[in-house]
Amino acid sequence: MQDLDIVILAAGKGTRMRSQLPKVLHTLAGKPMVQHVLDTAGGLNPSRTHVVIGHGADHLREALAEHNVSFALQEEQKGTGHAVAQAQPQLGSGIVLVLYGDVPLIRRDTLASLLAQVDEQHMGLLTVTLDDPSGYGRIVRDSDGHAVAIVEQKDANDEQLKITECNTGIMAMTSAQLKRWLPQLSAENAQGEYYLTDVIAMAASEGVKVATAQPHNATEVEGVNNRSQMARLERAYQQQMAETLMAQGVALADPARIDVRGKLTCGHDVFIDVGCVFEGDVELGEGVRVGPYCIIKNSTIGAESEIHSHSVIDTTVAAGLNQIGPYARLRPGTRLAVKAKVGNFVETKNADVGEGSKINHLSYVGDARLGRDVNVGAGTITCNYDGVNKHLTEIGDNAFIGSNTALVAPVTVGKGATVGAGSTIAKDVAEHALAVTRSRQLEKPDWPRPVKKAK
Ligand code: UD1
Ligand code: CA
Repeated sequence: MQDLDIVILAAGKGTRMRSQLPKVLHTLAGKPMVQHVLDTAGGLNPSRTHVVIGHGADHLREALAEHNVSFALQEEQKGTGHAVAQAQPQLGSGIVLVLYGDVPLIRRDTLASLLAQVDEQHMGLLTVTLDDPSGYGRIVRDSDGHAVAIVEQKDANDEQLKITECNTGIMAMTSAQLKRWLPQLSAENAQGEYYLTDVIAMAASEGVKVATAQPHNATEVEGVNNRSQMARLERAYQQQMAETLMAQGVALADPARIDVRGKLTCGHDVFIDVGCVFEGDVELGEGVRVGPYCIIKNSTIGAESEIHSHSVIDTTVAAGLNQIGPYARLRPGTRLAVKAKVGNFVETKNADVGEGSKINHLSYVGDARLGRDVNVGAGTITCNYDGVNKHLTEIGDNAFIGSNTALVAPVTVGKGATVGAGSTIAKDVAEHALAVTRSRQLEKPDWPRPVKKAK
C-alpha cells in the first residue's frame, strides 16, 4: 500500500451562507459536509488525513474530535496554496491528495482513478467541462493537448475565458513535488493570493506531466458557497439515493419526496409513500409498507409490517407483521413481537409488546413488559415516573386492561387478569382476577333536573 496523505481544505469563512456555523459543518443528508469528505477519504485508506482550519477552527476541532485527523491552522486565508502549505510539515513522503470540505459529493472511485495516475513523472488533476465555466479556474492545454497551466477567472484573458474545461481544485502529486513547488508560489495575481493552481505550470515547466481525470457527473465536484447550492446538492444526493433504492426493487410513491439521512436497507417489495424521512440505520423487511409522512430512525421493521401515516419511530425493533399508527410514536427501546399492534396517538418507550398484543388508541406505555395477546384499552397510561425514578409495569399474557386505566408502577398485572375501565392500579393484580378501582355508580331514580329560576 502506498503512503497517502489527504489534505482537506476547510479554512474558508463561507460568508454567503450567512450563518454562525462554519460552512463545512452544515449538513447534507443529515451529515456535515466535511464528514462526507472524511468518509470518502477514509475509503482510500490514507496514512494520514489533515484538515486545514481557520474560520470557526475551535468549532471544527470539537466537531471532528472523534476522528483520526490532524489539524493544520491557517490563521489568515491567503489562498489555497497557502492553505495546503500549513499542512506541509505534517506530510509523509508518499502521495498527497487535496480535497475540499465544501465539495461533499466527491466519489471514492473518481479519486482512486486520479491517484492511480500519480508518480514522480506525473501529477493528477481532476477537471470538469461545464456549460457555464464562470468563476472557475480554466485548464490551459498546449498544442499537444497536455495541461500546462490553470488560469483563474480573474486573471484570464478573453481567449482563456472561452475555455470550458475547469479546475475542480482536486489534485494529487507526490509529497516531494508538492514540497518543491509550494515555496515557489507567489501572490502576484489579481486576488493577491497564493494559488495552489500555480503548481500546474511548475509541473509543466519541470517536465512533470499533468494527468487529468473527470468525475462521473458534475455534482461530484460541485462546491457549496450558499444555501441555494447546498439545497441543490441535497436534492441531487436524495435523487441518487432514490434511484439506488428503486434499482434494488423498492417502490417509491414519488422519488422526489423521500429523504434518506443515513443508510436505508430494504427487502423485496417495500413500498414507501411520500414525505418519509429515514435517519441513521434503518432496515425495512420484505413487503413493509410505509405510509405518508413517517419519520423512522435507527430502527428495524420486520417483514410485512405496515406503518401508517404520520408515525414517528426511533430506535425500535418490530419483529414483523406489525401494524403501527397512524400517528404512533415509538420511542427508543420499543420492541414489538410478531403481530403486535400500536395504533393512533399511542406513545411507547422502553417497552416490550408481546406477540399479537394490541395498544390501539391514545395510550402511553413506557418501561413496560407486555406478554402475548394483551389488550390495552384506549387511554391507558403507565405511570412509570414517580418524579425521581422510573419503574416497571408488567402485564401477563392474555390480560385485558380496560380503557382509561392508570397503571402506577412498579406494578404487575397477572396472566389472564382483567382490569375494569377507569381503574387506578397501584397494587399487583393476581392472575385471572378482575380488578376495578372506580367508585360505584350512584343512581337516583326519577331525578328531576334543576329548572331555571324565575327573575
Ligand atoms: C478554487 C480554484 C479554482 C477552481 C475552484 C473550484 C484556486 C486558486 N482556485 O477557486 O481554480 O476552479 O476552486 O471550486 O485554487 N480555502 C482555504 N484557505 C484559503 C483559501 C481557500 O482553506 O486561504 C478553502 C476554502 O475554504 C474553499 C476552498 O479552499 O473550501 C476553495 O477556495 P475558494 O476561495 O472558494 O477558491 P475559488 O476561488 O473558488
Ligand atoms: Ca469556491
